[in-house]
Formats: sequence, C-alpha cells, structure tokens
Amino acid sequence: MAFNNLLIADEASGSGPGGIRTITINRPDQLNALNRATIGELDQALNEADADKSVRVVIITGSGPKAFVAGADIKEFAHFAVEEGKALAADGQKKLFDHVERMNKPVIAAVNGFALGGGLELAMSCHLRVASDNARMGLPEVSLGVIPGYGGTQRLARLVGKGKAMEMIFTAGMIKADEALQWGLVNHVVPQADLLAKCNELAAAIMKNSPTALAAAIRAVNAGYEPGADGMQREIEEFGKCFGTADFKEGTSAFMEKRKANFTGS
Ligand code: COA
Repeated sequence: MAFNNLLIADEASGSGPGGIRTITINRPDQLNALNRATIGELDQALNEADADKSVRVVIITGSGPKAFVAGADIKEFAHFAVEEGKALAADGQKKLFDHVERMNKPVIAAVNGFALGGGLELAMSCHLRVASDNARMGLPEVSLGVIPGYGGTQRLARLVGKGKAMEMIFTAGMIKADEALQWGLVNHVVPQADLLAKCNELAAAIMKNSPTALAAAIRAVNAGYEPGADGMQREIEEFGKCFGTADFKEGTSAFMEKRKANFTGS
C-alpha cells in the first residue's frame, strides 16, 4: 500500500534469510507529530510487516534531523470534547501503541531527536530503543492541561520506576539521551550519524535467532505486564509450544551437528 505520511524501506540482513523493514514517519515540517491519518497508516504498515515472513525486525524512526515524533498532533485535538478525547486515546492505543508492543517480531525505535508525548509513548511501545545523542525525551502533556493518553503513565513507570516517571510527568520536562540511558529508558545512545547503523547491527544479531522463539519471547515478557495475566504460566505455555516448532528442531539439530542454524520461522 502507498502511504502519505510514511516511508518504507527494506534491507537484507546479510547474515541469513529475511531482512529489516524501516518505517519512517515522514512529516518533518510538523516534527513528525502523530495525527490520526499517520496513526492509521502505521497500523496498516505494522500489519503488513507482521504478515510478511521476509521481515524479521522492524525499525521505526522519524524523518529529518530534529525529531523522532514531537507528540500527538496538538492542532488536531485542541478543540476536542470529553468523549472525543477518550476515543482518541482508546483508538490510538489499539491501532498503534498496543499494536507495536504486541508485534510478533522485534520492533526497535531509532529515536533520532525529540521524542515527546506520543513520540516517547511510541518509543516506549517498541521492544528496544536506541537514541541519537541529540535526542530529547519527555511527557509534556500536563503543560497542555492533559495527561499522557497513549500508555505513557503505565509504560514510563514500568521502564524507569514510579518515582522517576512521576517526576517526568509532573515537571513536563525533557531529559537528554545520556540521562535516558542512565535511567534505563533507552538501551543505547550513539552519535546521530550512527543511529541506523547501530539499529541494523542489533537487528542483525536478533535475526540470527528463531522467529518463532522471538515471537514467543515477546508474548511471554508482555504477559508479565498485562493486568490479570500470569507471566510465569504464560512462559511455561510458550516454552512448551516451542518444542512443536520446526525452528526448535533446526536449532537443536544445528547445535548437535556443530553448524549454523537456518531458521525458517515455522
Ligand atoms: N503537534 C502539532 N504540531 C507540532 C507538534 C505537535 N505535537 N510539535 C511540533 N509541531 C509543529 C509546530 O507547530 C511547527 O509547525 P508550524 O511551523 O506549522 O507552526 C513545527 O512543528 C515546528 O515546530 P516548532 O515548535 O516551530 O519547533 P521548535 O524547534 O521551536 O520547537 C519543540 C520544538 C519540540 C520543543 C516544540 O515543537 C514543541 O514543544 N512541540 C510540542 C511538544 C508537545 O507538547 N508534545 C506533546 C503533545 S501531547
């Protein structure tokens, strides 16, 4: 499908079958702010990436040198009433933020600049985050008279702890990339010119492994954060199911035959 607000690029890993799909949010003159059209396109692009067996890892980034995503599109929701506000959060969480988190393949956020409000919430929905050294992160919603509505109150506290999350949300301030690294909000910080190369390097390491096992690992880790779900029990179930996959047979055979595994993702 053709997109108005996204750029899609595929790259082979060089280390086996399958490749990396990079989804670039492309509204640089609006600092890649997430309007409803962009969220709808991201929903579609994520469905396509999940369904395509040749895609092993997804990278999400922002266009231009300045911003990953500077938030939800303030101009679009400024006139909303209560029910529209509630629907905006519910719809966005379902189409984009929960969708990213529940993808069957690893998703890396390449945070190339401002990640504010919905931008930080998008990065936090991704499974891994790599930031460029110019990145600035924050949840400034209370400065607009609203709160984070795309999962930020929950995911930030999970990543950095309740106290630091409260501080970031209450002050509406921005933290720099090195502070975000110290807090555990991002996995790596690199010079801006090296950002995609670092993400590709991580993706290449991931792609050596079984796609079916990676999908199971995502489900098991996520279960620990789902209210009412029993993460340990989910781990047992996912672990057991792995024994019925071709990837498990291939991985264990390759180990015993002292060769490199060639996973098919089945
Ligand atoms: N929604 C809608 N438009 C946004 C936006 C957002 N979240 N963030 C930036 N933009 C737009 C600006 O309105 C401006 O558009 P214009 O030229 O048509 O007026 C353009 O992007 C460039 O932004 P600008 O503010 O001029 O850049 P800056 O370098 O002076 O400041 C920021 C950068 C990120 C500090 C500033 O844009 C900002 O504070 N953005 C809002 C952040 C926010 O509160 N996000 C949470 C939303 S819930």
